[in-house]
Amino acid sequence: MNRADRKIEGERQSTQPDRDAQAARVVTLIEGDGIGPEVIGAAVKVVEATGVPIVWERQLAGRAAFERFGNPAPEELLASLRRTGVALKGPLETQVGQGYRSVNVFLRKTFDLYANVRPVRSFRGVHSAFKNVDLVVVRENTEDLYAGIEHEVTPGVVESVKVITEHASRRIARFAFAYAERHGRRKVTAIHKANIMKLSDGLFLRCAREVARDYPHIEYDEQLVDAACMRLVMNPQGFEVLLLENLYGDIISDLCAGLVGGLGVVPGANYGENGAIFEAVHGTAPDIAGKNVANPIAAILSAALMLEYLGQAEACARINEAVARVLRSGRTLTPDLGGKATTEQITAAIIRNLD
Ligand code: NAI
Repeated sequence: MNRADRKIEGERQSTQPDRDAQAARVVTLIEGDGIGPEVIGAAVKVVEATGVPIVWERQLAGRAAFERFGNPAPEELLASLRRTGVALKGPLETQVGQGYRSVNVFLRKTFDLYANVRPVRSFRGVHSAFKNVDLVVVRENTEDLYAGIEHEVTPGVVESVKVITEHASRRIARFAFAYAERHGRRKVTAIHKANIMKLSDGLFLRCAREVARDYPHIEYDEQLVDAACMRLVMNPQGFEVLLLENLYGDIISDLCAGLVGGLGVVPGANYGENGAIFEAVHGTAPDIAGKNVANPIAAILSAALMLEYLGQAEACARINEAVARVLRSGRTLTPDLGGKATTEQITAAIIRNLD
């Protein structure tokens, strides 16, 4: 690919009138792989319908970037993220057992986006095993087994290294308690396996306990990860903010999504000190990609979190309310929610319901 092509690829694509460009916030837009372009396209339409001026800086990542540049995380992408500090991102493909390393993990580590936050709540109109679930998964995002530090000791023997540090454990605990305080939550539950991983999970737990002492008005408890899984699928209403290491957080996020109707309705955000990337919990969903049936709500709610981060709390609330209304009416639902609507139809319904 030549320089001219690259310039076009990285070019800012504004859908706002020129006169708004001064006031507009620049955001890196990564459509992603699989259903990414469909759901991120929907989220962009909804954000634009709120009238908040955004200039999108479109960038390729993942498979699309690998096919184009031979690099799933090209320098243009990194430069854009450094410039804007904020991204709305679709899912990126990571091959199982082979291929390039996860770009998601790479971006989170490169930009030190240490806190992964996933609000999980029930919506009226969405069929699920439970009602009134309203919890938040706060997951450490930069270390643990999930960092993928592996090597072959000798053929037939591999080691995967679990790194837990005091620095990362303490700052994610602080984030979880500060989040709980800011959002009026009454309880933080640290989830661990310190009975077996006495040193690594033990350190994580010690940091959580120390931070908890600074927040005496917020209840703090601890649960073994196995027991927590059982309690989550029996009484999810007993949880408010879950504080987890990276790998447990990854697994439990999907479990929690299953409590409220699936991956199509759970948004997410990765926060650091100097920036944030907003993305749904779900992956590229290759089984439904390109069919105009993917549920865009998780991406749309992630975009709403992004607006909140950008100081647009009212636009965020309007999107949340529009989504809730569409789900409540039950008339325009995608197949994962038991309906027959297309991605485009549910997006249009959400836009119609924006106050
Ligand atoms: P997945 O989340 O892509 O799909 C799991 C199931 O949920 C599939 O049946 C899919 O059709 C369904 N699903 C997911 N999102 C949906 C939506 N918005 N609407 C309707 N149905 C939806 O998980 P899977 O199959 O394990 O991963 C596929 C690829 O995605 C892998 O390469 C994986 O590495 C990647 N991935 C990327 C993530 C990211 O970029 N943040 C997160 C999770 C997975």
